[in-house]
Amino acid sequence: MKRAFVNKAPIVRLQGQAVLIFNDPDQSLLEALEIKKVRIFSECRSGYCGCCKTKIKSGSVIYQKEPLVPLADDECLPCCCAPNSDVDLELSAKGADVFISPLTINSSFHQTKQEPAAQESTSPCQLKQQKTKLSALQLELQEQR
Ligand code: FES
Repeated sequence: MKRAFVNKAPIVRLQGQAVLIFNDPDQSLLEALEIKKVRIFSECRSGYCGCCKTKIKSGSVIYQKEPLVPLADDECLPCCCAPNSDVDLELSAKGADVFISPLTINSSFHQTKQEPAAQESTSPCQLKQQKTKLSALQLELQEQR
């Protein structure tokens, strides 16, 4: 699912809770949510069965191919779509690996400044996660201004 981000990567929220920055155009929304340990049921993962049908509270998504499942205007199939803007879904964030919250913004910046030695020994995967987290925090700060 190739997609170009013009302004910024969309923020995905679940019932208002920011859960992830959608910054990998090769992923589906379902894959991104699963990485964050969001509980979402799926079967076909191709837009055929409707098992992953999810309500959109705000925002919009795009599909690489139109899904076969009939959808209301406020529904999406995360298995075969990507956010087209910041999006808020009616899924629960309970149990998800949430890193974006007002409480963690300041502490995360503080931790980054105090522990430079720990960053030197991070793996490429951890480094990518830290960059994603930093981007998310910067976007949150921009939104608050
Ligand atoms: S998992 Fe079948 S439509 Fe999404």
